[in-house]
Amino acid sequence: MNRLQGKRAIITGAARGIGRAFAEAYAREGASVVILDIDLARAEQAAKEIGPAVSARQLDVTDISAIERVVGEIAADGPIDILVNNAALFDMAPVTEVTEASYDKLFAINVKGPLFMMKAVSNAMIATGTRGKIINMASQAGRRGEALVLVYCATKAAMISMTQSAGLALIKHGINVNAIAPGVVDGEHWDGVDALFAKYENRPKGEKKRLVGEAVPYGRMGTAEDLTGMAIFLASSESDYVVAQTYNVDGGNWMS
Ligand SMILES: NC(=O)c1ccc[n+]([C@@H]2O[C@H](COP(=O)([O-])OP(=O)(O)OC[C@H]3O[C@@H](n4cnc5c(N)ncnc54)[C@H](O)[C@@H]3O)[C@@H](O)[C@H]2O)c1
Repeated sequence: MNRLQGKRAIITGAARGIGRAFAEAYAREGASVVILDIDLARAEQAAKEIGPAVSARQLDVTDISAIERVVGEIAADGPIDILVNNAALFDMAPVTEVTEASYDKLFAINVKGPLFMMKAVSNAMIATGTRGKIINMASQAGRRGEALVLVYCATKAAMISMTQSAGLALIKHGINVNAIAPGVVDGEHWDGVDALFAKYENRPKGEKKRLVGEAVPYGRMGTAEDLTGMAIFLASSESDYVVAQTYNVDGGNWMS
């Protein structure tokens, strides 16, 4: 407990799912947390339910001027110690059916958004001399392509690459950039993934989710809480010597 005492964290896409679990975990460890999400009502509800250390603001991470404004306003209240780039969108289609709209949307949310969040927050950290922590949410999808998941896999491979370049550039300022690559994590995100697999593979709803869970060496799908230990470690001073890495937290699905 109290491994993040007095730290100020911002987490994108934390109105639900993994980001919300991170907000709860960071607050438990003594940090104050700002949830930044496109869904303001749900972000405010999450903040209220977690407690007074957590607040919510609306942000669409594809809007770069909004990123600069919101990060600037949060930085005006004091140094930002931790950024978690968590917001992302999933979509599915094979190469023969991919659309420009799906490509543009996924790259805007999953790649451009986190890149310009890193830019705004790292500049704020450098300006205040803060030895900060940036944690990017990648995926096992970024480790290997999948026949039906071309664009999303490419965005998560980009996240791993951006983590490496930003990590190497920022460590001289004492800022650590690392990533977490989850496997299959139960929740609303995977309900959407399951529905798309049902369509593309002509399966009954729920079957893909059951099969991917059974295939995990650990024996089940992950939960958001399975990831919080790594998220706390990468946000704390215990990870000071960890630079530009992507950690698989996936029950044994992937080894790298
Ligand atoms: N759930 C999984 O199985 C899994 C596996 C590997 C990686 N991941 C990654 O972990 C992260 C969190 O996943 P999750 O399962 O909690 O997802 P989720 O879909 O449950 O939550 C995503 C959040 O992002 C928000 N969001 C969407 N577009 C936004 C935008 N333009 N600006 C700001 N916020 C926006 C949504 O409102 C939502 O609150 C994502 O980066 C995801 O790719 C998830």
